[in-house]
Formats: sequence, structure tokens, C-alpha cells
Amino acid sequence: MQKISYCLSFTMSILQKKIPPTLPETSPVANGIALTRDALAFYTRLARDAGGFARYELSDRTVYFVNDPRLVREILLVREADFAKWAFNESFRAIFGTGLIGSHGELHRRMRKVAQPPLQPSVVPRYAKIIVDLTRHRMDRWQNGIIDLSREMTMLTVQIVSSALFSVPLSEETATEIREAVSILMRLNTKLGGAPEDVAAFRDANEIINRIVAEIDDRGPSDPNDGNLLALLLEANRAGLLSREQMHQELRTFLLAGHVTTAQTLACAFWLLARHPQAQENIHRERDRVLAGETPRLEHVERLKFCERVVFEALRLYPPVWVFGREALNECEVDGISIEVGQELVVVPWLLHRNPEFFPEPDAFKPERWENDLRSRLPRGSFLPFSTGARSCLGEHFAMLETILVLASISQQWKFADLPGSPDPGWSAQLLFWPRRGIRLEGERRA
Ligand code: HEM
Repeated sequence: MQKISYCLSFTMSILQKKIPPTLPETSPVANGIALTRDALAFYTRLARDAGGFARYELSDRTVYFVNDPRLVREILLVREADFAKWAFNESFRAIFGTGLIGSHGELHRRMRKVAQPPLQPSVVPRYAKIIVDLTRHRMDRWQNGIIDLSREMTMLTVQIVSSALFSVPLSEETATEIREAVSILMRLNTKLGGAPEDVAAFRDANEIINRIVAEIDDRGPSDPNDGNLLALLLEANRAGLLSREQMHQELRTFLLAGHVTTAQTLACAFWLLARHPQAQENIHRERDRVLAGETPRLEHVERLKFCERVVFEALRLYPPVWVFGREALNECEVDGISIEVGQELVVVPWLLHRNPEFFPEPDAFKPERWENDLRSRLPRGSFLPFSTGARSCLGEHFAMLETILVLASISQQWKFADLPGSPDPGWSAQLLFWPRRGIRLEGERRA
């Protein structure tokens, strides 16, 4: 009798516990397969059929999916102390290790403090000249015809990040090595623990990055006194604030996070412009008006409004960080739902950015939607290419300055057209949102 009453009260407590809706007629195994096959299609279906705060079961856990800007803001900002960062998958851990992106708690707070100064909005403008000089240098190599924008933007942005943040210029050979290693890390990122040759290729690519990071440390900053990140890390190492190993983890993090995302955004922006001749025309008109034949400089950035709108629109439609998440550190409640310690909450900017309430005609490329400072009028959790809160992107100001200046510099001298048949770049949601087949366009030097 006692046992029956216990079972009854246990069942009642489960029934009474408020849980968010999930997909009808599904199972943990089916969810796992659907996520591996096409994660964006899965989350789109979940948002459509279960709403802005939903759950899905996997074979070993329940995951909450948060697609309501009000709740996203609550998790990332209001209750940020209740959550730690969620590691996307095993390869995320292998790539980002214990650097700023992958670390937690005290270590993360300490390292964010050490790394922050060279990325402050007041300091970032000093990188403008490096960005423009390296862009012009890269364009000098181009000839009319097919240009592999994915490749070129990757080479450019990795050289920019190393020169600007480490004061260590990278040779063409080293930039190529990084590009090839990163493309393996991206391509194989979901296959750790997969075929032995894939696992070996992933490890080798990771080792190449480690070796280059050690070389950057050996060379040291060419200017140790300009407050660059490498000089600051070396100083913190001497002061006993971080080990050499931790320092390499941070260099790795900035070398990778500081170029893959901006390269993807830039290649994507040129691809979108090539498909929208009117927008490309607007960029060229803005260039004539603002630059009037001069080389782009920091002073121009404020007035390159159309370039900024193109960058925002590329980040809205194709956010490189298409998903991120949090893991509950404390038992807490979100929208009346109790979340247990260790449970995961997933946010998908790719979907948030397609909410027709904030972005009418959400699938259309319309840079003009950003007129009249739309960004500052949007609710906090609705446009999150750089996330928000304590774990938001440390490189946001750097990335915005860089993408606007590169876009303006290249558009000043080049125009692009889509290749015949508009080949599909193979957008795929892996570790990053990524054009699997790369972006290649027909380039023509402007008279
Ligand atoms: C368009 C370019 C970029 C995009 C879209 C982007 C996006 C993001 C996002 C969404 C996060 C946070 C994820 C989360 O909340 O879990 C993040 C974190 C981070 N990003 Fe970026 N990023 C970009 C460029 C950069 C650049 C240029 C740098 C360095 C120079 C950088 C360094 C970092 C670092 C260090 C973190 C970790 C911050 C922390 O956890 O404290 N990012 N980025």
C-alpha cells in the first residue's frame, strides 16, 4: 500500500512538473539522427511545431531549445551567473582546449581580463592601417577571372590577426599551412571518433596549429611595447599569472577565432553582393562619395554605412557561429520551467535572425533594413552574431572594423559576378556555418 502511494505521488510530481513542449511522434534516437543529418532543419521544425521554448530528448539527456528573444536575453544576461558555456561537441573541446573560448569559472575570468585591453573599442582603431595595408597587398596578387574568395579572405584575415594582435607578420607559406589545417578541422569536426584516417588527419591538423603557435611564441612580438596581445600574455606569464601552456592555448584561440569567422563573413558578403547587383552598385556609389579616390582610413569607417549594413545582413543570414549554448551551474527556473544542474540550453542565432517579427521578409538579403540604426532598436536577444553577456565575442569591435575596411578597400578596386549557373557553395551547419564547397566568384578590376 505504502509502495503504491509512493509510486502515485512520484507520478503526480512528474505530471505536475511543468515541461516545455517537444516534437510530436519522435524518439531520442530519431532526434539524434535528425540532428546529425541536418541540424538546421531539425531546429526549424522544433521552433515551428513546439515553439520558442521547447525541449528535445537525446538518448542520454534532455536539451532545452530557446528561440524566444526574451528568454535568450534572460539566460545570457539576466541569469548569466547560473550558466556556464556549453561545449558544442568533442572536436570543439579538441580545438579550443582551455583557451578563452573553452575555459570556465576563475580561469576564464582571469584570462578575459588579461586578453581584453588590446580589443577594447578605444584601442581597436589602431589596427586600421594594418588591415588596409594587408588588404591592398593581397589584392595586388589578383588577376581578372575566377577568384577563390574563401581562400583569399582566409589568407588575408589570418595575416591581419597575427600582425595586429601578436605583432608577428605571417609568411604566405605559414598562412597557407594554417588555412589547410583549419579546413581539415572544419571538415572533420563532427567525425572525431570516426574513421581512423579522419581521426589521424584531425590530430595532425591540430598539431600543425600547435607548432605554428610555438613558432609565434619563439619569434616574439616585433614590437614588444605597443600593448599587443602576445606582449601582454608574455608579461602575464613572467608575472606567474599563466603557464606557457596556457599562453599557447590563448594564442591558438585568438589565431583561430580571430580569422575563421571574419573570413567567412567577408567571403559571404562578396557572394551576396555578386548576387545582388543593385547592392553592389550602392557599395560602389558609397565608395565614390566617402572615399573619393583616397585609400580607406579609420576616419572613413563612420561614414561607410552601406558597408556596415552589408556586414550586418551577411551576419544575420549566415552567422558563422550559428549555434551556441549554456549549461546550468545551479538549479534554476526559466519561464516557470525548472532546470537541473548540468542541463543544456541551446540558442540558434541562425533561426533567431529569421524571425519575421523583427526581420520582415527574413530570407531576403536587404542591407537597407539596417537603416536608421535598426540594431539599437532591436530587442537584446534577437540579433546575436556575437552573442551577448559575459561570454560574448571579445573580438566584436575588431571584427566590425576589419570587415568594413576590407569590404570598402576591395570594393574600391574590384567588382564581382556570380559564376555561370550560380553554383551552390554548400552552406552547412557544422562547428561554424560554413560554405563547404567554398565561394568562388568572377572578379574584374575596376577601371
Ligand atoms: C565576424 C566575426 C566574428 C563572429 C561572428 C564571432 C562570434 C562569436 C560568438 C557568437 C562568440 C560567443 C559564443 C557564446 O556566447 O557562447 C564569440 C566568442 C569569442 N570570440 Fe568571436 N566572433 C568573431 C570574430 C572574432 C575575432 C576577430 C576575435 C579575436 C580577435 C574573436 C575572439 C573571440 C573570443 C576570444 C571569444 C570567447 C569569449 C569568451 O568566452 O569570453 N572573435 N565569437
